[in-house]
Amino acid sequence: MIACMEAVLLTAPGSVDHFERAMLPLPVPGPDEVRIRIRAAGFNPMDWQKRKTIDSSRLPVILGGEVAGVIDAVGPRVLRFAVDDPVFAYLVRKPGGYAEYVCVRAVFVARKPGPLSFEQAAALPVAGLTAYESVIRAGVRPGDPVLVTGASGGVGSIAVQIARLRGASRIVATAGSDRSARYLTTRLGIPASQVVRYGGRSRADLAAAAIQCNEGRFFRVAFDFVGGAMTSLCADTVGVDGQVVAIATGPHDATHGEAENDEDHLFDKSATVHFVLLSARAALGRPAEWGWYAQRLDELARWTEAGVLRPPEIRNVGRLSVAAVRTAHQILEEGHVQGKLVMTVGGEP
Ligand SMILES: NC(=O)c1ccc[n+]([C@@H]2O[C@H](COP(=O)([O-])OP(=O)(O)OC[C@H]3O[C@@H](n4cnc5c(N)ncnc54)[C@H](OP(=O)(O)O)[C@@H]3O)[C@@H](O)[C@H]2O)c1
Repeated sequence: MIACMEAVLLTAPGSVDHFERAMLPLPVPGPDEVRIRIRAAGFNPMDWQKRKTIDSSRLPVILGGEVAGVIDAVGPRVLRFAVDDPVFAYLVRKPGGYAEYVCVRAVFVARKPGPLSFEQAAALPVAGLTAYESVIRAGVRPGDPVLVTGASGGVGSIAVQIARLRGASRIVATAGSDRSARYLTTRLGIPASQVVRYGGRSRADLAAAAIQCNEGRFFRVAFDFVGGAMTSLCADTVGVDGQVVAIATGPHDATHGEAENDEDHLFDKSATVHFVLLSARAALGRPAEWGWYAQRLDELARWTEAGVLRPPEIRNVGRLSVAAVRTAHQILEEGHVQGKLVMTVGGEP
C-alpha cells in the first residue's frame, strides 16, 4: 500500500512562486467520502483568484476544484461507488486537485462518461455545472435569441451547447481576438456573422453591433460570463422581460468607457437578473441538498455519452508538477483561454 502522495502545495498567498512540491500522507476517506486516484485535474479562474486572496490561516493548501480519476477507497456509508469505478468530481467544499489522490464526498462525484478521456472529463465539472445552471435559470425556450459573452471560455463553451439543446434559435457571441473568434466558429459552430468583436468600441457601438447580429432585435436572454463591460452589454441588449444571468464580477475594459448604472437599463425593461454561484449550495445549503451536484454531473455525463454535448477543447499544460500549475495559473490569469486547461496526473510518464 502506498502511504504517501505527491502534491503541489500553495504555501503563501500571491505569486505563483509560492507553489511547492510536497510528499504528503495519503488522505483517508471519511464515512461519506470516496478516495480518487486522480488521473487528470482541471483549472479554473477561481484557482488563481484563490491563490491571490486566500487567508494565510488556511495555508498551506492544495488548490484545484475538479478532477477525473479512479475510485481507490470508499467510506463505509458510500453505496453508489466501488473501487475501480472511473469518475469525475467537483471538489467544492475543499479543493485538492493538484495531487495524486483526493478524498471527496460521494455527493460531488459521478461516473465518468465512457467516451471521454480523463483529461476531457476533468474539464467538465465546474464549467459544465455552471453553464447548465445558467441556462436553466435563464429559462431558455425554443426560438430564443441568446447573447453569450465570454463564449470561448470554459463556461461559455458548454452554455452555448446547452442553450441550443433547449432550443435557442440564434446564438450571438463576443470575441476579443481572431483566435477567440475562430474557436467560436470552428469549435462551437457559431456563424462568423454572429460573432461580435468587443475591442475598441464604445458602449453604444458594441450594443448596436450585437443587436445587428440578431437582425436588429433585442435578446430575450443574455449570459454575462465576464463581468465589467460585458455586464453593461447584457443590460443594453436584452429586451422587455429579458433574462440576464451573471456569474462573474470581471474586468472593466478601458476601451468601453466609464461604467454606468446597469440597473437602470434593466429596470426600464422590466428585466430579471439571475446570479449564479455554483458553490453556494455546498457552502450554505444543508447536506441533504448536495445530491443536486451529482445529479447534474450525471446529466452532463448522459449528454456527452449521447453525443449531444462536446466537452470544451482542452489544452494540457503537462504532468502534475509545480511548473504545470504555474503555467496554468499564468495563462488563466490573462483571461483569454479558449476552452479549458488541464493537467495529467499519474499513469505512465
Ligand atoms: N459564479 C460561478 O459559480 C462561477 C463558476 C465558474 C466560473 N465563474 C467565473 O466566470 C468567469 C468565466 O469563467 P470561465 O471558466 O469560462 O473563464 P475562462 O475560461 O477563463 O474564459 C474567460 C472568457 O472571458 C472572455 N474575456 C476576457 N476578458 C474579456 C473582456 N475584457 N471583455 C469581454 N470578454 C472577455 C474571454 O474571451 P476573449 O478571449 O474573446 O476575450 C474568455 O472567453 C470567470 O470570471 C470565473 O471566475 C463563476
